[in-house]
Amino acid sequence: MPKDWYEWHELYNTEPTLQQRLEIVREFIAYSLNASPNGNIRVVSVCAGDGRDLLGTLKNHPRKQDVSARLVELNPQLVERGRATIETLGLAKQIEFINGDAAIANNYIGAVPADIVIVCGVLGHLADDRELKRLIDNLSYLSKTGAFFIWTRGHTNGIPYSDNVRKILFASQFEEVNFQLTATGDMAVGLHQYIGENLPQPKEQQLFVFSGVPSKAR
Ligand SMILES: C[S@@+](CC[C@H](N)C(=O)[O-])C[C@H]1O[C@@H](n2cnc3c(N)ncnc32)[C@H](O)[C@@H]1O
Repeated sequence: MPKDWYEWHELYNTEPTLQQRLEIVREFIAYSLNASPNGNIRVVSVCAGDGRDLLGTLKNHPRKQDVSARLVELNPQLVERGRATIETLGLAKQIEFINGDAAIANNYIGAVPADIVIVCGVLGHLADDRELKRLIDNLSYLSKTGAFFIWTRGHTNGIPYSDNVRKILFASQFEEVNFQLTATGDMAVGLHQYIGENLPQPKEQQLFVFSGVPSKAR
C-alpha cells in the first residue's frame, strides 16, 4: 500500500492497468495535439502527478514547440521530478509546474482557457456524483470552446463507473471523441470535446474537492 502519492507513482512500474492507462492517455494527448489548429496550444493538467502523461507525449511530438502548459500538483517531490523532466526536454520556457492546489481556480490564472485539459487519476477520488458534476461544470472555466478533455475513471467490482461520467459529460456539453477501456478491463480513458462557451471568470474558487487517499487508490 503506498503511503503517499509519490510512492503511489511507483505502481506505474508494476501495474498493467496503470501502464495501459498511461499509454491510452498519451495516445489521446497526441491526438489532441495533432487536431489542434496551427499556432499556440495551451494545456492544463489538474493533479498532474509527475506529468509523465503530457511530458512523455511531448518528448517526440512534432508540435511540442507550440505547447504552453501549466501542470498543478500538491506533492512537492512529484513537482520536483516533473520540473527535472521539463529541463531535460528543453521545455522550461513553455511549461510550468506549479506546486499548489489544483482545486483552486486562481491557480489557473494566465493559463486558461486551455485547448487541452487533462484530468487523470482524479474522478475516482471525488466524494460523490454531486462533486463529479461540480468538477465537470467548472471545466467551462478551464476550457475553450472546442477544447479537448482527457479523463480516466477506474471500475471496481465490475461496476462501470465511467458510464456515469459519460452521462454527465453528455449533459454538460461535451461530445465524445474517443473512449477506451484498458486491456485489463477495469480502467476507462475518455477523450471529449467541449462544445459549450468558455466562462472567463470561475463560478466558484473551489472547483472540486479531492478526497482520495493513496493507500486506497489504483
Ligand atoms: C491518482 S494520482 C494521479 C496523478 C497523475 N494525474 C497521473 O494520472 O499519473 C492523484 C494526484 O493528485 C494529487 N493531488 C491530490 N489532491 C490535490 C490537489 N488538491 N491539488 C493538486 N494535486 C492534488 C496527488 O498528489 C496525486 O499526485
